[in-house]
Amino acid sequence: MNTATAGARRLRVGVVGLGRLGKRHAENLAYRVPGAELVAACSPLEEERAWAREALPEPRLYDDYADLLADREVDAVWLVTPSSLHAQQIVDALRAGKHVFCEKPLSLDLAECERVLAEAARYPQLQATIGFMRRFDPSYKDGFDKIAAGTIGRPFLVRSQTTDKNDTDGFFVRFAATSGGIFLDCTVHDIDVARWLLGKPRATRVFAAGAVALHEGLREFGDVDNGVAICEFEGGKLAMFYASRTQAHGNDTHSEVIGTAGALGIGHNPRANRVEIYDAAGIRNECTPSFFDRFEEAFLHEARAFVASVQGGAESNVQAGATLADALEATRIGNALRESLQSGQAVTL
Ligand SMILES: NC(=O)c1ccc[n+]([C@@H]2O[C@H](COP(=O)([O-])OP(=O)(O)OC[C@H]3O[C@@H](n4cnc5c(N)ncnc54)[C@H](O)[C@@H]3O)[C@@H](O)[C@H]2O)c1
Repeated sequence: MNTATAGARRLRVGVVGLGRLGKRHAENLAYRVPGAELVAACSPLEEERAWAREALPEPRLYDDYADLLADREVDAVWLVTPSSLHAQQIVDALRAGKHVFCEKPLSLDLAECERVLAEAARYPQLQATIGFMRRFDPSYKDGFDKIAAGTIGRPFLVRSQTTDKNDTDGFFVRFAATSGGIFLDCTVHDIDVARWLLGKPRATRVFAAGAVALHEGLREFGDVDNGVAICEFEGGKLAMFYASRTQAHGNDTHSEVIGTAGALGIGHNPRANRVEIYDAAGIRNECTPSFFDRFEEAFLHEARAFVASVQGGAESNVQAGATLADALEATRIGNALRESLQSGQAVTL
């Protein structure tokens, strides 16, 4: 337990959504975050509540979010629900007096993002954070600290990618109708990383292009399985993004930051572990297969930081994670990339 959480009452958390990622968050909160107590969980699906009965330490189970919000012994809600529900669920949580952690993105719709920010301003005593977990990955955090210490001079360019191992099952094709497309689903992380590492500059113009290399089913949603983009920021800062759903080798998420006195590479070669195979094909290592394998530690640090931040009280209530305003900017830029992809034109913000 760190100094912020020592002696404080444990934060009573209710997790909402027990799907692919919600189960992971729930297990972290139940067993690996000392300042937290997972007291409630919510899913409309009986099979997911059955999983919770088996896997979690007896949380109160709800099939309706409103009932979880009415639970007076829940201090904070942890939203891991479909992106289209985030904005209203955050507003409802704040109105019920709960702190909120919500998975990215805040919303696919900019007006909805603005509505959440306006509502959150009415509850300054409540913490609301969006889950851009890459900020909590030890290597990204070290890169951030080195930039802050001046190691590469003034940073002015970020090259960043989120690329997934090819999924022949086509989960993301089925998900395409509600994901917002490759830039809002994947590149939104790189956008947040670029703004975070470059000192939160405001974006001024973007251009995006894409290709369908393997997954023809994406065309009906106006989506692509490989996308590239350029983003210009105020003050002469730049970012280049690449997103892919079709990598052969694994989830390969990495970034590079270029400054006036040097550069940093963060996470190149997504090693699964420290084993190298020496054989007739040469020397190689296996890679992290999925985003969760790559960022397992980041999800855990993110949860601990949120809990410590809430428990730190008003004076130390400095958000280590992405604020609602950061998340709004990520959606603004992600939406512009999607518009550019579809129009073939640069978009001025
Ligand atoms: N940070 C990351 O890298 C990362 C990675 C994957 C997913 N995500 C985000 O996490 C969120 C969930 O993604 P997922 O892959 O786990 O999706 P999923 O479809 O597997 O899970 C969604 C969950 O929400 C539940 N749900 C649906 N409607 C609900 C409602 N009205 N009330 C309460 N629960 C409801 C479903 O039962 C399910 O448990 C998405 O917003 C996604 O963008 C983030």
